[in-house]
Amino acid sequence: MDGPSGTGKSTVSRRLARECSVPYLDTGAMYRAATLAVLRAGLDADSPAPEVVAAAAAAEIESGTDPSAPRILLSGEDVEAEIRGAAVTGLVSAVSAHPEVRELVVARQRELIADAVEAEGGMVVEGRDIGTVVAPEAALKVYLTASDEIRAARRGAQDRKAGRGADAATVLAAVRRRDHLDTTRTVSPLTAAADAVVLDTDHLSVDAVLDELRRLVGERGLVR
Ligand code: DC
Repeated sequence: MDGPSGTGKSTVSRRLARECSVPYLDTGAMYRAATLAVLRAGLDADSPAPEVVAAAAAAEIESGTDPSAPRILLSGEDVEAEIRGAAVTGLVSAVSAHPEVRELVVARQRELIADAVEAEGGMVVEGRDIGTVVAPEAALKVYLTASDEIRAARRGAQDRKAGRGADAATVLAAVRRRDHLDTTRTVSPLTAAADAVVLDTDHLSVDAVLDELRRLVGERGLVR
């Protein structure tokens, strides 16, 4: 499941994984945890690339794969809440654009996917480059999209709920900035795989997207 932020990707991915009784992997959380390690090393957007890469590479990240209780650990500490904050969100696109960081994180993602396929028969994986780079052999690839205004409105509502209020113009600018960085980076930029099913969620509710996913899963014989 790929696409930019604010498309409902996490919500539908988790619900689909629960319905199909398979594990779930939030790959964005892994880049966010690596970014938190970079921040905790006292580095920022202006730090030399080798230092950023070294701090991200040294991060001990453990990803939970239970769709009902997503969690991510950094050196054994649960950082699920902290990785959603403004500091990490502002730096994660820059950190995840480093090819060396991606190489390490993608290798770990492939291990987790292989384990899940072997033990549980499959996995729902969400991110930006899953269908194109991480798991090009996936049985079903979905690319969720929506206009930036609608995505910013959804992200703003989510942030307010989590007590991180920001005005609408700031949220829209942040969404556009991150989209720009994610779609224009040299290594595995955000893009739909040629064989992905593209769903525009501007006028689709979460339930309507799930209906369509259920149909696709059934059509491809992926139901257990
Ligand atoms: O899905 P998210 O907003 O938590 O992702 C945070 C950032 O991580 C996103 O802006 C780009 C990066 N990312 C990536 O480069 N590749 C992925 N597969 C997932 C996320």
